Amino acid sequence: MRETAALGGTVEQAVDAIKAKNGIVGREKELRLALLCSMAGRHTLIEGPVGVGKTVLATAIADYLNRPIFRVDGDERYTEQKLTGWFDPPIVMKKGYTMDAFISGPLASAMDTGGILFINELNRLNEGVQNVLLPAMDEGKIEVPRIGTMMAKEGFLIIATQNPREFVATSSLSEALSDRFELLPLTYQSEEEERLIVETRARIKEQRVIRAVTSIVRETRVHPSIRRGASIRAATGMALLLSRMGTSFAAFREAAYMSIPTRVELREDAKKSVYDVIDEILEKVLTDIPIEQPAPVRAESNAEPPEKKAEEKKTIRK
Ligand SMILES: Nc1ncnc2c1ncn2[C@@H]1O[C@H](COP(=O)(O)OP(=O)(O)OP(=O)(O)O)[C@@H](O)[C@H]1O
Ligand SMILES: [Mg+2]
Repeated sequence: MRETAALGGTVEQAVDAIKAKNGIVGREKELRLALLCSMAGRHTLIEGPVGVGKTVLATAIADYLNRPIFRVDGDERYTEQKLTGWFDPPIVMKKGYTMDAFISGPLASAMDTGGILFINELNRLNEGVQNVLLPAMDEGKIEVPRIGTMMAKEGFLIIATQNPREFVATSSLSEALSDRFELLPLTYQSEEEERLIVETRARIKEQRVIRAVTSIVRETRVHPSIRRGASIRAATGMALLLSRMGTSFAAFREAAYMSIPTRVELREDAKKSVYDVIDEILEKVLTDIPIEQPAPVRAESNAEPPEKKAEEKKTIRK
């Protein structure tokens, strides 16, 4: 077992401590690799689909290393000045372009304190901003206009996250930037772990509901009409809605209609609407998982609208 020299104890102990502090389910291997990568002084890029736990993992590691953390949330309007730093006009008027007038951005601050620059959604930054990172990452320096070269203190590291290339609204990283990161891919967790995530994040105990919402979400990832399925966030959302709505078939449908459509992407050639697809998934999942019994169907219920009758039939199925 390897020692976490700077922090005391083994890497395994460190992983256990990180999991306990941040309520992380599973992910021992990924946490171990991310920690070893940071201890080796290498910059880490955590890549995976939406909602797979990239931010949770990255922030937990950064927090454990106990260094100052500076966060950037990548989007295409983020500028080079915002990342590096800028001059405060009133102070420039008084003192000129001196260090006193320079307001450090997250990159300069992380370099100056030997801290961690945590970049969420790295590939949403435009190319000009990405390029500013290049000399910082391998030479530990940046050029600041009117100030000159700024050197990074010992300990400066970047931990970045991004969605894979095929996701919308992301561009790819330049070869030069990719070459400066070690890659940690994250994939969806096992069903058992996903259930535990729902249980801890939604703070509910009802196992039938946890099982059902987790299965519904996992089915969206394999349904032939869906190109991109939903993340565990959808399951947590549904579980919380159901804690207010009850757990009849109708409630599951209302919750799923609210939690799923914006989180999945249908295939271009899909012949069904997203609501038809959700209904199909509900039929499949809720047939296997017992849900709340309806009131007995009375003879005169023939007068009920057909939609309601169909719904009740589904509800009594186990
Ligand atoms: N292993 C895990 N243990 C506990 N909670 C988790 C785990 N993985 C994900 N979560 C929970 O799932 C949700 C999504 O996680 P997170 O925000 O880290 O995903 P992400 O990959 O950064 O998503 P995005 O691509 O949208 O930025 C959060 O509420 C988080 O707490
Ligand atoms: Mg994130």
